[in-house]
Amino acid sequence: RAEDGTAVPPSQRGVRVPPGVTVFDAASWNGIAIDSTCGGHGTCHKCKVQVTSGGEVPVTRHDVRTFTPAQLEDGWRLGCLVHATRDLAVEVPPLTTRPKAATVGIGRQVILRPALQKRYVELDEATLADQRTDLVRLTDAIEDLELTADLHVLRRLSTVLREADFKVTAVILDESLIDVEPGDTTAARYAIAFDLGTTTVVGTLLDVGTGTPMAVTSMLNAQQPFGGDVITRISATMMDDEALGRLQQAAASTLSSLAGQVCREAGVDPAQVYEVAVAGNATMTALALGIDPEPLGVAPFVMSSSQPPSVLASEIGLTLHPRARAYFFPALGAYVGGDIVAGMLATGMDRDKRTRLFIDVGTNCEIVLSDGETILSTAAPAGPAFEGGAIRCGMRAADGAIEVITVDPTALGDDPAVTLGVIGDVEAKGLCGSGLVDAVAELVRVGLLDATGRLVPDEAAKEIAPALADRLARIGEERVFILHRPTPESDPAECVYLSQRDVRELQFAKAAISTGWSLLLEQLGLEHRDVQQVLLAGSFGSYLSPASAVRIGLVPQLPVLRIVAAGNVAGEGAKMALLSVRERAGALALLEEVTYVELSDRPDFNDAFVEQLSF
Ligand code: FES
Repeated sequence: RAEDGTAVPPSQRGVRVPPGVTVFDAASWNGIAIDSTCGGHGTCHKCKVQVTSGGEVPVTRHDVRTFTPAQLEDGWRLGCLVHATRDLAVEVPPLTTRPKAATVGIGRQVILRPALQKRYVELDEATLADQRTDLVRLTDAIEDLELTADLHVLRRLSTVLREADFKVTAVILDESLIDVEPGDTTAARYAIAFDLGTTTVVGTLLDVGTGTPMAVTSMLNAQQPFGGDVITRISATMMDDEALGRLQQAAASTLSSLAGQVCREAGVDPAQVYEVAVAGNATMTALALGIDPEPLGVAPFVMSSSQPPSVLASEIGLTLHPRARAYFFPALGAYVGGDIVAGMLATGMDRDKRTRLFIDVGTNCEIVLSDGETILSTAAPAGPAFEGGAIRCGMRAADGAIEVITVDPTALGDDPAVTLGVIGDVEAKGLCGSGLVDAVAELVRVGLLDATGRLVPDEAAKEIAPALADRLARIGEERVFILHRPTPESDPAECVYLSQRDVRELQFAKAAISTGWSLLLEQLGLEHRDVQQVLLAGSFGSYLSPASAVRIGLVPQLPVLRIVAAGNVAGEGAKMALLSVRERAGALALLEEVTYVELSDRPDFNDAFVEQLSF
């Protein structure tokens, strides 16, 4: 329903976002456009939404200035000032004006200047007095661009012009004429942004004329059977000559099934998708392009090129417009790839004067630090702990995974000593990365884990946390803390638990990451407190509890308000590249602006790592 009460056909969507994310960001990350000209900074007062259920939402002074008391009573609020801390039902009015800019990423306003343009022209028919060629006739009508045309266009041009009575739409990518379509097709300007992750791939269909996301969908990368991380996939290509072709094929089938899904969902003909942008790490990019990734996996870790060539979308297995083009993001290094360049674009790392730290938490963790002048980046091998790998009860963030944990060491009677948030509200089956970080952070907080990461002895536990002590058990030789017991009689081995070894795994992972950012801080002569914002990116980082991340030292010791879930910034960067050629140039400029710091050969690395192991 629009603010004035006019009915519009509703389309219902359920989206899941990290707690604390604003309704505005939650919507824009999930392809739901909300009006805005300030990019979510609370100043334009356009992002009006109605919270229809989920409880009371605080009223800000901006809301008071924007809405009548009756509207406030009805739940109207500015979407960029409503933080989703629990399930909310929100109605989003349709856009009233056609935007000239789109809000993308972390409050970035992108002025629409897509590489893809369409121009409708009505041409004079050729006569004996006017024997200009068909191409000149067309290009003369589009005076402001120096167009070139390839053979594909020339083969169609004469027929299409005559069949359409010389009323045609020129389809232009940069300055190349890629097609001529009969009639006026200017309203159909579609492109797809892909976040090509090692684990999950996300596709967003965009109308590049308005910046509106039309459909978003995600699926697991079909390369999974070759291994969960980039190293195992690179190894697969080293051991089997046919693996590269099969991995390329798997990337193609993933991208193509996502493309099919978003087009179907939005009711868009795939032949009207003229461009795709792909943000992936260096290995995913190489594999999608069929480039041998072996040099990425062995020292000195060299890419074949930091700037992948522009290719036809059909060359990476996509069936879209026959001349549709695929743009791949450039990369800073073998382990700070195009996904991170896209993330930097989406977070404006190069445009902000604040000191900001960007951390994409995953098996390979990428870290970027900017003090407003200098930008440094590095990569830290964190291992599989955050993805649930090498963790006894570890699992991916899927139904049944414990993702939030709070403990109360003084709980009495029927009050729960351990409260679990389980994805899908089903019985707990395992522990995902954010649950692992929460579990360790909570046990550190109440003193059941000491600073060295050791579970305290049973006697001490009874004194420190009487309500929790009976959850300490042994499985074989190993001490564990029981998080969920299916039945009161269940044997510890049948429970969901955190083991002493799991704690060690997390210690190593967090030490790798905190060594990375602490050495970057040191290089710029900065202290923890100088960092004004920490952006936690990626499908895992975004769901981490900031308080837990601070408590275990995964991020600098800062007030939690300075720690922000950044969402799928790689996908957002890919959208920006499709919406603006200037942003695309910005991505390339980052290659010059960012200095890559190799940590592994630093003499002080080991000492710093050991220092960072403790909680
Ligand atoms: Fe401008 Fe919310 S987006 S006020």
